[in-house]
Amino acid sequence: MNSGGRGLGRATVLMIVAALVAVGSVGASAQESEGDTADAALLQAGFDTYTTQCAGCHQPGGTGIAGTFPPLNGNPAVQDTAYLIQTIRNGKQGALVVDGVDYDGVMPAFSTLSADQIEGLVAYVQGGFVVPAAPGGDNAAALPVATGALPDLAGMAIVAAFALAAAVGVLVLSPRIISTLDRLDVPWLDAWLRSAIIVVYFIVATVAVPSIVLQSETVSRLDRSVQDVLGVGLWTGGLAVGLIGLWYTHRERRI
Ligand code: HEC
Repeated sequence: MNSGGRGLGRATVLMIVAALVAVGSVGASAQESEGDTADAALLQAGFDTYTTQCAGCHQPGGTGIAGTFPPLNGNPAVQDTAYLIQTIRNGKQGALVVDGVDYDGVMPAFSTLSADQIEGLVAYVQGGFVVPAAPGGDNAAALPVATGALPDLAGMAIVAAFALAAAVGVLVLSPRIISTLDRLDVPWLDAWLRSAIIVVYFIVATVAVPSIVLQSETVSRLDRSVQDVLGVGLWTGGLAVGLIGLWYTHRERRI
């Protein structure tokens, strides 16, 4: 019974687990770039809004037309976010000097733009009118599709890879963990595995589970005294189950 897990060579098993974990990490790093993609989507949205709403006057790239429409690119006034948003929402008129050039025109109010559209506009205008190249091509229309599909796939790949790695690990190691022991001659791996399981169990049962439960939304809405009883109950229960488990597995010569 003790040698049940050794049909597959230890090296082979370690290689399989390592390969699966590697797949998972690749997926994880794919997900890390999601933040950049979100920024890119925001700038892209800002570019789109700017092009349809503002470029007719302020010109593509925010260069403006001297004496008629002030430049926005390189104009320090646009770095004042409150002023920029207020100008977009309410429009502007009256004398104005930008870069030593006088303007005295009328900019209409853009009161129908959504908060998201304005957020994109602010990012694009303050960021110097730059749109990062869309990953996998510069086709602007393809971007939303790509950002929607990729993270989900990457996330599923990670979960699948780690679940598979865990399953293979459990399958191969379980005979080492549950078999009865000759206590005078315990293989090092068996001893470490059993010790690790005991330590992890006590951490999870007496620290992690009570804190997760107490922080959960449903429980944190309960009465304070109910929360206390629940916390103490969970902690005592986890501890008791662990101690009974230790006593039982020891009696069965499994630890
Ligand atoms: C119909 C033409 C027109 C459109 C469209 C337009 N603007 Fe303007 N904008 C102007 C004019 C004219 C001024 C200068 C107003 C003045 O002289 O007081 C101005 C001024 C500004 C200023 C103030 C600059 C400064 O130095 O204080 C900002 C910021 C600005 N526009 C942003 C935008 C944004 C963002 C859009 C798109 C949502 C936009 N504008 C659309 C005509 C326009």
